[in-house]
Amino acid sequence: MTISVEKINAIIASEKATFLENYKRIVESPSVSAQHEHQNDIRETAQIAAGYLKEAGAQFVKIYETRGNPVVFGRITNKEGAPTVAVYNHLDVQPAAKGKDGWTRDPFAFTEENGRYYSRGTTDDKGPAMTALWGAKIASQLGVPTNIEFIWELEEEIGSPHFESFIEEARKDIRAESVLVSDTLWLSPSTPSITRGLRGLQGFLVRLRTGQKDVHSGVTGGAARNPITELCGLIAKCVNTTTGEILIPGFDKTWKKPSQEDIDDHVRSGFTVENFKAANKLTSLRVNTPEEVVSRIWLSPTFEVHGIAGGYQDEGLKTVVPPFAEAKISMRLVPGQKPEEIAKLFTEFAKSIIPDCEIELEHGLLPYAAPSHLAQNDYIAKAYEFGFGAKPASVREGGSIGAVVTMAEKLNVPVLFMGMSLPEDSYHGPDESFAWRQVEGGVRSFVKYFELLGSK
Ligand code: BES
Ligand code: MN
Ligand code: MN
Repeated sequence: MTISVEKINAIIASEKATFLENYKRIVESPSVSAQHEHQNDIRETAQIAAGYLKEAGAQFVKIYETRGNPVVFGRITNKEGAPTVAVYNHLDVQPAAKGKDGWTRDPFAFTEENGRYYSRGTTDDKGPAMTALWGAKIASQLGVPTNIEFIWELEEEIGSPHFESFIEEARKDIRAESVLVSDTLWLSPSTPSITRGLRGLQGFLVRLRTGQKDVHSGVTGGAARNPITELCGLIAKCVNTTTGEILIPGFDKTWKKPSQEDIDDHVRSGFTVENFKAANKLTSLRVNTPEEVVSRIWLSPTFEVHGIAGGYQDEGLKTVVPPFAEAKISMRLVPGQKPEEIAKLFTEFAKSIIPDCEIELEHGLLPYAAPSHLAQNDYIAKAYEFGFGAKPASVREGGSIGAVVTMAEKLNVPVLFMGMSLPEDSYHGPDESFAWRQVEGGVRSFVKYFELLGSK
């Protein structure tokens, strides 16, 4: 027996209002993991999520406490002995503030415009999480035998520092033989992506103090050390600021340039530079051929500065030499590279240039390569075709998800991806949004995936 599109559509239509009520409530809970002031909101989100799992019919629901944020876990048992899959999403979000970072809306007020839902977390990753949950609910209602677990993390956006300890504790409760992660991007609104792998990440906070207070640059400048200038100098020695080439001594030996074949294969996915620029509202790039762009965004390591703090940031010019500066930096890593090895190279180099700088390492994430020849790879393609009538492309992606490598290694199960987000959703950016058509098609795709998994 196969489930018809019409049947699923009818249920989605009749449940739309309930879905949106639930979606609104969870995205309006501002679960920002990077900011301490949101600790209570993180817990509120966990409670809301656990409630949703119970409403969806999960017989087993548990919030696992860790030394950091909790993880919400649940299982819908449809048939004892049938295959079990775990769907992974994260329910924490990036920081956002109205008026700052370009937001034109209240970042934690759920609003709709032209079939898109706006608010921090709508696409990364609460929308896909709710979509998967509705897919599971409907599959269960339609008699699909597959057992479905949910792993909802609340510190993905800070590198999943306590996810491994969660896995150690929850291992006895997790029955899944495979994991499906829904936290990745499509190539375009017409091309779903079957993610082949993710980059790793190592983040650094570099701090430099050279005095105790702001001093007049006409009185002290020239002799006083300027911490902002020194950090900028360090950065310019780590990376060619025009080409992006990484200059840290020894770095070259840690990775192999992608082969022409690999690059061509990724270009054939349907990637175009024009769409990439438009979706991300980029006005100019470092490189302009599709070969170079896919190589940079998916297949090569990067060195990025995310922010420099220190000095005078308000209106006009204030001629001081500041006493302190901080640079927020990260490097994306490709398969073969290890965060510790990169952290060591960077730290030694930075210390050789500014011996008294202080370096705080963020939790490092390993790169990931997904298995590619499993029945599940084929199910994902079929599920996307069923849900959206679109043929997916298969590419590596440039982002990082700390929990992925941990699940693959500690649970020893295949971890695959079925993402729902679009390049124009403004991942981590202002006015983040998620389109209703991704919900509808996504629900259909999840129902199909669960059906296919249970059909053998
Ligand atoms: N959903 C993203 C990961 C992602 C981004 C996958 C783009 C595929 C394409 C995830 O929520 C994320 O943003 N991860 C962070 C982790 C970091 C803050 C430790 C990232 O990649 O920067
Ligand atoms: Mn995400
Ligand atoms: Mn994210």
